[in-house]
Amino acid sequence: MRPGTTSTARLCRVGRMRARRTCLAVPGSNPRFLEKAQGLPADEVFLDLEDSVAPLAKEPARGNIVAALKEGDWGGKTVVVRVNDLSTSWTYRDVIEVVEGAGDRLHCLMLPKVEDASHVRWLDVLLTQVEKAVGLPVGAIGIEAQIESARGLVNVDEIAQASPRVETLVFGPADFMASIGMRTLVVGEQPPGYPEGDAYHYILMRILMAARAHGLQAIDGPYLQIKDVDGFRRVAARAAALGFDGKWVLHPGQIDAGNEVFSPAQDDYDHAELILDAYDYYTTVERRGAVMLGDEMIDEASRKMALVVAAKGRAAGLARTRRFERP
Ligand code: GLV
Ligand code: MG
Repeated sequence: MRPGTTSTARLCRVGRMRARRTCLAVPGSNPRFLEKAQGLPADEVFLDLEDSVAPLAKEPARGNIVAALKEGDWGGKTVVVRVNDLSTSWTYRDVIEVVEGAGDRLHCLMLPKVEDASHVRWLDVLLTQVEKAVGLPVGAIGIEAQIESARGLVNVDEIAQASPRVETLVFGPADFMASIGMRTLVVGEQPPGYPEGDAYHYILMRILMAARAHGLQAIDGPYLQIKDVDGFRRVAARAAALGFDGKWVLHPGQIDAGNEVFSPAQDDYDHAELILDAYDYYTTVERRGAVMLGDEMIDEASRKMALVVAAKGRAAGLARTRRFERP
């Protein structure tokens, strides 16, 4: 099937820019965590059926997740369930049980270990069938695609456009490091013996380029040293600086740091809003395209950059502390 010819192709998805500064992993096998996650300030929760759940606990975990979705209060969070990957025997039942049981409470399914576009198309078709069966609008449920292998990365562009349901590309560093044979066991940190550069730079940029080329969000994966909040902050800040929209959090102690790192600083937010107002004034009232704002020259490209920062600030709930004054 060609990209874009799936049954959801005609639907315009509205969910691609949901809040995802922090994406909290919650094992579906642990009802206490499922309860506690509801009150935590993460933008997204993803209730996991995959690698944080032991094989013998996977089937009961589906029921826990459906109950938590139906009975829980998830506030304004982005709500996602991670199903098992397509090499297992669990995936189709994960999808059917979760979506039949609580599809109306769900924004997305996360599909791990996506290797090529056919994985996403499979999920798209199954979701369409289940949505029709339970009376949900076709296309209601989005897809988060995890890129966790060399093959997934090589195919990332086709994965990004495999279905209009795809909202984000998510880097899975642990599986990825194993897939390429990177010689370290410390997920998120640089491998020993490579002091010159950032071993993740190419991977992160490749994912980011595919995401941006197709209008998707890009999310960084976990940092496993959960007690080292400074380490988390340092690694998260690198992904945020590149342009990533958010990062996984594995522990409540990482959430505030993640929300802060992926929100613009107050000063940058104010500055961005000032550029937008100033540019609007000068181009419409004075009809000039390149103008001075204080000591800084701004033009159409500045407006585009300012739009990005302003949008992130507004999404993070920041309020302006400075106003543009007409000359
Ligand atoms: C997440 O799924 C990872 O493999 O890092
Ligand atoms: Mg993984």
